[in-house]
Amino acid sequence: MILLDGKETAKQVRTELRTEVDALAGKYGRKPGLAVILVGEDPASQVYVRNKERACEDCGIESIPHRLTSASQMELEGLINELNRDVRVDGILMQLPLPEGLDSQKCLDLIDPDKDVDGFHPVNVGKMSLGLPGFRPCTPAGVINLLKRYDLDPACKKAVVIGRSNIVGKPLAMMLSQSGPCANATVTLCHSRTADLAAECREADFIFAAVGLPKFVTGDMVKEGAVVVDVGINRTDEGLVGDVDFDSVKEKAAAVTPVPGGVGPMTIAQLMVNTVEAFKLHVG
Ligand code: GUN
Repeated sequence: MILLDGKETAKQVRTELRTEVDALAGKYGRKPGLAVILVGEDPASQVYVRNKERACEDCGIESIPHRLTSASQMELEGLINELNRDVRVDGILMQLPLPEGLDSQKCLDLIDPDKDVDGFHPVNVGKMSLGLPGFRPCTPAGVINLLKRYDLDPACKKAVVIGRSNIVGKPLAMMLSQSGPCANATVTLCHSRTADLAAECREADFIFAAVGLPKFVTGDMVKEGAVVVDVGINRTDEGLVGDVDFDSVKEKAAAVTPVPGGVGPMTIAQLMVNTVEAFKLHVG
């Protein structure tokens, strides 16, 4: 069984990016800038944001923090408009979920699509669905980058994606089924209303678990030699647990991502990649 080490792979991605960023900063006289918006005091979001800021530092990207204990819809929209106009800001990251009462879709719609490094703006979602260049959401793009770096190509294989969220499941299914490197899979998108999920999984050469249920995918659902990618981060009494029951799945799978240290670090590395792409768009 191959352990798909996202922590180490993300480190490599960041190191490569650092070299590129230093060269770009020398050439254009400024660093790429990522504005990070955090509203409220959700402890998990605080951890994510801190990790994103640390990654920026690692890559030579300037992080421009906007931590607000609370904000009205109008204040938040005002801030986004301001960041859209700010020439130091190449990317805007608004950590989700927003506190109750704030309309996240309305805010996401306001972000300049050329600064939408999360790939959540309808323009970028549309471009993705058309297979056009644009920002891709960081988690699916990070997952595909991880597979690429381990030479695990889903082309012509059966892939099952569990979970149909806008952030992970839906875009991942779309990206895997498109043409291009590390894609071309035959994809089944499963969700809470799928009739026989275990049967779908047992057919799959690649399983991507993004359901948000601790240890949901068990060894009996996995075909011998399958690749299993765990996108889940569940906080339980046992600590951080993925959507995959690692101990039973490792007996069947050819490769598995651990939690923590699998997909999570790749998501953050991809945010850095997207920010550098945004910088190139703005200086070019
Ligand atoms: N919350 C959970 N995942 C994400 C993500 O990829 N981006 C943002 N902005 N918020 C999130």
